[in-house]
Amino acid sequence: WSRDGHRIVGHLAEAELRQPARAEVARLLAGEPDPTLAGISGWADTLRDEDPVRGKATAAWHYVNFGDRGCRFDPSRDCRDNDCVIGAINRSFLALSDRKRPLAERRDALKFLVHFVGDVHQPLHASPRRDKGGNDFQVNIGGRGSNLHAVWDRNLVGSRRLEPDAYASVLRRLPAPRDPTLASTTPAVDWALESCRLVDQPGVYPRERVVGDAYLAKHRPTAERRLRQAGSRLAALLNHALGN
Ligand code: ADE
Ligand code: ZN
Ligand code: ZN
Repeated sequence: WSRDGHRIVGHLAEAELRQPARAEVARLLAGEPDPTLAGISGWADTLRDEDPVRGKATAAWHYVNFGDRGCRFDPSRDCRDNDCVIGAINRSFLALSDRKRPLAERRDALKFLVHFVGDVHQPLHASPRRDKGGNDFQVNIGGRGSNLHAVWDRNLVGSRRLEPDAYASVLRRLPAPRDPTLASTTPAVDWALESCRLVDQPGVYPRERVVGDAYLAKHRPTAERRLRQAGSRLAALLNHALGN
């Protein structure tokens, strides 16, 4: 997602934090320029520019590509060395939950977790195709060249022209996701497979490679539902990791 997409997820999760998690988030984020979930939600994407070594080392953590024979997760094929969004969510969740780890490590884990729970819900971040999540599928939008990945990261949500906090208030009224209760690991695989199946829905890849208002109107509800789900699920992870 774009910066605003991640901010929406942060606002949604913030509204569902229970008090122990809320207090621990405040403690972990003390000293951040904007010490809120929305405020730190885009940090993982800024690493590429601000810390190129770390940006490169974490680039694969934003997505997972499944093989092109359907939506099934094969860790040795799709997530070698746990270097994919599923591995990154599980690792960050573990580090955040472990109060014996250094505060700085847990702070980074929180910042990564907020971001990657958002990303795994962007359908094209967990895709069954071999086109870099639609980055290699060129489209025309508003008379300009772009690609399908950018349309889903940015344009579907951007076309409503709402600020992230106002947008989050709107999306709060959508139904909350039903999820299994958390055990020792996270449901990140399930969320990625949901994304994968959405990419296979008819019309996601526009035949004429033109993205107009009809495309945006048709697929915006899916993008909005995914942000809504990401917010509630992130809150559930944080309430679990940081509850007492
Ligand atoms: N780069 C390679 N595959 C990608 C994906 N599915 N999403 C975003 N960036 C990618
Ligand atoms: Zn993206
Ligand atoms: Zn990302």
